Amino acid sequence: MRIDIVTIFPEYFAALDISLLGKARRTGLLDVHVHDLRGWTHDRHRTVDDTPYGGGPGMVMKPEPWGEALDAIVPPTPPPPTPPVSEPTPLPSASASRPVSGAGQAAASGTVPRLIIPTPSGRPFTQALAAQYESEPWLLFACGRYEGIDSRVVDEARTRMPVDEVSLGDFVLAGGEVAVLVMIEAIGRLLPGVLGNADSVADDSFAPGAMESLLEGPVYTKPPVWRERPVPDILLSGHHGAIARWRRDEAIRRTARHRPDLLARLAPKDLDERDRAVLREAGFPVDGEDMAD
Ligand SMILES: C[S@@+](CC[C@H](N)C(=O)[O-])C[C@H]1O[C@@H](n2cnc3c(N)ncnc32)[C@H](O)[C@@H]1O
Repeated sequence: MRIDIVTIFPEYFAALDISLLGKARRTGLLDVHVHDLRGWTHDRHRTVDDTPYGGGPGMVMKPEPWGEALDAIVPPTPPPPTPPVSEPTPLPSASASRPVSGAGQAAASGTVPRLIIPTPSGRPFTQALAAQYESEPWLLFACGRYEGIDSRVVDEARTRMPVDEVSLGDFVLAGGEVAVLVMIEAIGRLLPGVLGNADSVADDSFAPGAMESLLEGPVYTKPPVWRERPVPDILLSGHHGAIARWRRDEAIRRTARHRPDLLARLAPKDLDERDRAVLREAGFPVDGEDMAD
């Protein structure tokens, strides 16, 4: 996967040289290019911000350096040449009558990247979105600062590539760099070959399938007793079926405690008698067909 990042703080991304992602870069699974937005400024102070139209506090990122940066990374495609007037207009062939491929298709084929703009006003970043991005060949991240990027940059970019505005959560960071690092780590660890044991993602919280609406329960390692606290006996039993059941019970209990909102997404048809008993015990009886009822 190719990843481009535009930022005024390239040094943030030194973290991408460490651990799993650093290894993925060294082995060629991840091809990361970090660009300094100030490289596309033309004044002595390398200015990237200006006062907001309409007034108010803070500064807004200027469109010109962003426009030049995006043009340099994704050169605009020239419009197709117009046939000379004397030439007869060709009849539409079978291939010409196919729908014109959209920006999404171009991104899927790797001709253009998907542009991802972190912003608190974007759609929520989730494990499902990370999995969707993992299947794309080329992602381009634009790190905002100040009050954000002049909105015309997003509107113009949308005419030639798919653009997603994505939020990490209901809080405000000082800039997009940390948000982009979070997204790249969540996406990168899903790339085939990045994790030592590919099966470990299947048990993660939010993993598609059985864990989709559940948080992972507690985990333990050696020694079996630490500061007089023993590991739950069941985990030492070697009984795989019982261990899987215990883990699911704990996942349900933890989800009920920390994220009851997620329980509403459990499909009652996927819940067995034991799931229902644990939910009842946790104060979430399943009566109807829909947990949200
Ligand atoms: C100080 S914030 C701007 C916040 C903006 N005035 C607002 O209220 O929506 C500067 C930059 O930090 C990043 N940022 C802040 N909070 C974020 C969040 N929750 N998710 C993703 N990016 C965020 C964005 O890149 C944003 O442009």
